Amino acid sequence: MPPTEAAAACGVRLLGVRKAYRQGDRRVEALRGIDLEIQGPGFHAIMGPSGSGKSTLLHLLAGLDAADEGTIEVGGVSLGGLDDAALTLHRRRRSGVIFQGFNLLPTLTALENVTLPATLDGRTHAEAAPRAENLLRELGLADRMTHRPDALSGGEQQRVAIARALLQEPPVLLADEPTGNLDSQASDRLWRLLAEVARTRSMLVVMVTHEPLAAAHCERVHVLRDGRVAGSFHVDGLDPSQLALRLSDTLRTAV
Ligand SMILES: Nc1ncnc2c1ncn2[C@@H]1O[C@H](COP(=O)(O)OP(=O)(O)OP(=O)(O)O)[C@@H](O)[C@H]1O
Ligand SMILES: [Mg+2]
Repeated sequence: MPPTEAAAACGVRLLGVRKAYRQGDRRVEALRGIDLEIQGPGFHAIMGPSGSGKSTLLHLLAGLDAADEGTIEVGGVSLGGLDDAALTLHRRRRSGVIFQGFNLLPTLTALENVTLPATLDGRTHAEAAPRAENLLRELGLADRMTHRPDALSGGEQQRVAIARALLQEPPVLLADEPTGNLDSQASDRLWRLLAEVARTRSMLVVMVTHEPLAAAHCERVHVLRDGRVAGSFHVDGLDPSQLALRLSDTLRTAV
């Protein structure tokens, strides 16, 4: 695939995206017109105050929820045009998602957790196992494959979740505060790993984070405020404290 096509295939594009939640008779406007284009491959951060719509945005990109208005393209595919069956396939094949809480199934081994997206997709565990084993090995979990989640550290569980998200070779990997439950060393390892995944697999990795330390590993930060894009900036060698300053400047000066 030529580079421009490859970039489009692993990019995301949102135009005029709105999303409101209903809570009783209250209406919460989580996203109020998001225009955002991120060309892959690369490692990008989404930052912004609590409640600014970051998780909502990631859920829409993952196809876990639908926008009320606007268009969303992931890897060149417009999600609005997909029926339920096609959306399910999008979730399984075209977007890998990593959440803060790992979301591993407690009764399955690490290896079985990783093959799950393929077995849900109609393949047998045996068919999916070789690739899952390779991923677990690459992520430093060669001797943890038969462990169940409760016999793994938080960092190991998070790496199993990454292997699972990568199994179907999605063009886009989405991570929502993926180090929320990890100590600082395990967090740093995970950020380096996500940067490496983006580089070596030519994927777009989009990570929601509150931490300047995390965003310093990314190439660009996109800032949300009150359900809109307040701005974005290149990280380009900014250290975490400079990055925090750029973030608060972007939030302050956005119209
Ligand atoms: N399922 C839901 N039902 C009702 N309101 C919701 C729901 N999910 C999110 N919201 C509201 O939508 C807004 C955006 O929420 P969202 O979770 O996207 O924010 P966030 O930027 O991820 O915040 P945080 O940094 O705290 O995780 C908030 O006001 C939140 O209360
Ligand atoms: Mg959130």
